[in-house]
Amino acid sequence: MKQDLLTFANWTPEAMADLLELAVTIKQSPASYSQVLAGKSIVALFEKPSLRTRVSFDIGINKLGGHMVYLDSQAGKLAGREDSVDMAANLSCWADAIVARVFSHSTLEQFSKAANIPVINALCDKYHPCQGLADYLTMYEQFGQTKGLTMAYVGDGNNVTHSLLIVGALLGCNQVVITPEGHEPDAEIVAHATTLAAKTGASITVSNSVDAAKGVNVIYADTWLSMGDDTPLATIKDKFMPYQVNDALMTLTGATHVMHCQPAHRDLEITSALIDGDKSLLMPQAENRMHGQNAILTHLLGAK
Ligand code: CP
Ligand code: NVA
Repeated sequence: MKQDLLTFANWTPEAMADLLELAVTIKQSPASYSQVLAGKSIVALFEKPSLRTRVSFDIGINKLGGHMVYLDSQAGKLAGREDSVDMAANLSCWADAIVARVFSHSTLEQFSKAANIPVINALCDKYHPCQGLADYLTMYEQFGQTKGLTMAYVGDGNNVTHSLLIVGALLGCNQVVITPEGHEPDAEIVAHATTLAAKTGASITVSNSVDAAKGVNVIYADTWLSMGDDTPLATIKDKFMPYQVNDALMTLTGATHVMHCQPAHRDLEITSALIDGDKSLLMPQAENRMHGQNAILTHLLGAK
């Protein structure tokens, strides 16, 4: 039966650890994986803009011996010209997998039902699993482990936050999520991540106070306004500015490293000095998008 990758929420800690290990192995020995996708074609379909996800999938698939077909949304949302289910059923006539960045998670669920090939979530309103995997691969490389470390996510609690919670819980990394009031992560996803964390001994804390980040290893930032959110910056800037990731926050918390999924907005959610400084893990995170995704593709499509 085909397997999708929409969230990681139904994975076990063991499977998650195996996937992280596979990503490390592929990164270290790319030649051994250069034919994993030989003769396979993958459609990558984007309803929203992308730099990292689009390019890292395209080049990554090429490094695995496969071929990627890029589809932009051409005229706004996918739904409009034809139903998502019809699009997915047609794509599965030719392609071996669908990578999709969509506005709504429900579109991915429709794709999953209509396509008899794996569907991979390249970001939706609720999750960004490929980002989560790359980020913990980066932490693993930096610290030699993920278990027992603590990451504090500071900012707007949404898609990236949710995937960091799920993947982190499965890998035994403690999570502190700090947001302004009204921007907390989805309570159901936090509850689910908490049940996953119970299996690995990790803890999950949600707070509106930056003091909750004292003693963490890593601070993680994301944009205050996600793609598709038309809220004017001026209306939220004062609310979010106390949550800026800057030198004062690094000193308060004692965190040794800073992370950001990018695109970053310099001197808004994170200072330029931190992005460019020696505590920054931003470029290793970006590089690891490709290695993590190649592990996902190998897991879903490689010979068993
Ligand atoms: N981090 C990330 O997904 O970047 P893109 O939006 O550029 O793909
Ligand atoms: N939360 C951001 C992540 C971008 C990679 C967004 O959805 O725009």
